[in-house]
Amino acid sequence: MSYIGKTDDTIFEDSDELIRVLGIETSCDETAASVVALDGDSAPEILSNVVLSQIEEHAAFGGVVPEIAARAHVEALDGIVEAALGDSAVSLDEIDAIAATAGPGLVGGLIVGLMTAKAIAAAANKPMIAINHLEGHALTARLTDGLDFPYLLLLVSGGHTQIVAVRGVGDYQRWATTIDDALGEAFDKTAKMLGLPYPGGPNVEKVAAKGDASRFAFPRPMKGSAQPDFSFSGLKTAVRQAATAIAPLSDRDVADICASFQAAVADALGDRVARALARFGQEFPDQANPALVVAGGVAANRTIKATLEALCSEAGFQFVAPPQKLCTDNAAMIAWAGIERLRAGMAGENGADFVPRSRWPLDSVSAPLVGSGRRGAKA
Ligand code: KG4
Ligand code: ZN
Repeated sequence: MSYIGKTDDTIFEDSDELIRVLGIETSCDETAASVVALDGDSAPEILSNVVLSQIEEHAAFGGVVPEIAARAHVEALDGIVEAALGDSAVSLDEIDAIAATAGPGLVGGLIVGLMTAKAIAAAANKPMIAINHLEGHALTARLTDGLDFPYLLLLVSGGHTQIVAVRGVGDYQRWATTIDDALGEAFDKTAKMLGLPYPGGPNVEKVAAKGDASRFAFPRPMKGSAQPDFSFSGLKTAVRQAATAIAPLSDRDVADICASFQAAVADALGDRVARALARFGQEFPDQANPALVVAGGVAANRTIKATLEALCSEAGFQFVAPPQKLCTDNAAMIAWAGIERLRAGMAGENGADFVPRSRWPLDSVSAPLVGSGRRGAKA
């Protein structure tokens, strides 16, 4: 049987068969490959998860440089795939399908990942499944925690800030997005403004721990607004103005600004999420065990995590934060999305003829918001 260009959607549907998928992720500055297995009703298993971060290659430029990223993916990907197969002790022959991120992201990296996946699929006569990177993030909690649909996802990364109702495989409804900067981007820009190294988020958090969060009364953008979305550019401007007004900055000033910034972010984010939890309760009254899942690099932030945890416990939601390695970009989530699609009989929709999409909203129904995802690079 030839799988190329078409996947036989019936092979894994409702089957107890062992499924093993090789995942490939190259949409931004991580080159990653992973093998994930699902055997009947048992819990899925990550057999390998290899991630090569390009952070050092981009650090000198204070952000991800698309050309450098694409070249680095070309250089690294073959070895990373080999390592993932080697670690998993599964031969290419035993792999059931190749799943690769096809968007959204930096087009150079997407082409590298997708072409590699297509070549492997063609050579090994296996199905190829093009995966939306955001779907990978959205379904991770089912890989790690076996969550049932529906649940709520907060994705806070360098390129996206979204609240999504995850209703089923391929069934996502975006309830909120940013109208300007992504939250990770706001952290990174704030860090840059204050002379802290890239990537900014972890450094802002570290410095904030020594600061006074009440020293600067920064705005809480959108707080109380009936529009469910996020905004961070006003907060960024307020930080710049405060920093300029008291320059030159002492270490204490920087720490106080970081702490005040982080407190404003947590407060604004909490307000938006509280709205979404309430809406979830109204729209899905039959879900007896509602859950909020966080994904994306910013989910590592302890102040933000604590805020979300408190909100969830107040609203009767389970708070699910997958391990950080699976919250940030990785290929296990892509392999898992491939398994989910195979199981749901939806793998053939996005087969080997799929072309990379630098923009590819998860929810094709909600209109894009002007200014959202401007950087469009990271998800
Ligand atoms: O998900 P991720 O690793 O990559 C993508 O964006 O795809 O997220 C990276 C973003 C960066 O903007 C980084 O500054 C931010 O997550 N970040 C943090 C923290 N750790 C990473 N932001 C705030 N606090 C942190 N501890
Ligand atoms: Zn991502």
